[in-house]
Amino acid sequence: MQTSEAIRQRRSIKTFTEREVERDEIERMLEAAVLAPNHRMTQPWRFYVLGPEARSAYGRALGDRKARKMADADAAALVRDKIAHQHTDLPGMVVVAMVQDENPEIREEDYASVMMAVQNLSLQAAELGLGTHIKSGAVMEDPAARAAAGVRDGERIVAVVNVGEPADVPSPKDRASAETLTTWLP
Ligand SMILES: Cc1cc2nc3c(=O)[nH]c(=O)nc-3n(C[C@H](O)[C@H](O)[C@H](O)COP(=O)(O)O)c2cc1C
Repeated sequence: MQTSEAIRQRRSIKTFTEREVERDEIERMLEAAVLAPNHRMTQPWRFYVLGPEARSAYGRALGDRKARKMADADAAALVRDKIAHQHTDLPGMVVVAMVQDENPEIREEDYASVMMAVQNLSLQAAELGLGTHIKSGAVMEDPAARAAAGVRDGERIVAVVNVGEPADVPSPKDRASAETLTTWLP
């Protein structure tokens, strides 16, 4: 697949088939990720590939957060269980973390690099016929979610990437053309 084709085909995939994602497919994606541009070659990315138990624990952490905002205890328990099961059932889930440098300038550059790594991962997945969905949110700082993913002290979770064979591929979102957002200077 041409890079341009992968870029155009990639979508955030919300539903996956039951086909398992093979370990070597995840490895291909991660090998693509670590080729991202990286100022000072700090290689700040860290990847945690979650199996079903870890996915369930991450889902419980997310479900707990949603349940805490609900008044009805029974409804809250249902939501918590549903979210945990949804995560257990995912074909693949990669938590992408970065090592936090103490220098803010380096931290910002490192964050940019890690997101470029996430894009490489997503495009490599597209070439393999797999879909990805980047998830974020305050849950990434939740101690229970961090523990579920096994991230180490000094690391920050920057993205959670669900991976699998797409069951449904959404239409492209409306986007402004590059032309309308570009200023050409003499
Ligand atoms: C940094 C980042 C965080 C995102 N977080 C979420 C999220 O928490 N939940 C979600 O449903 N989608 C999330 N997305 C996916 C975007 O919503 C999605 O990329 C956007 O709607 C465009 O759709 P497309 O990826 O199919 O082109 C995130 C994307 C990025 C780049």
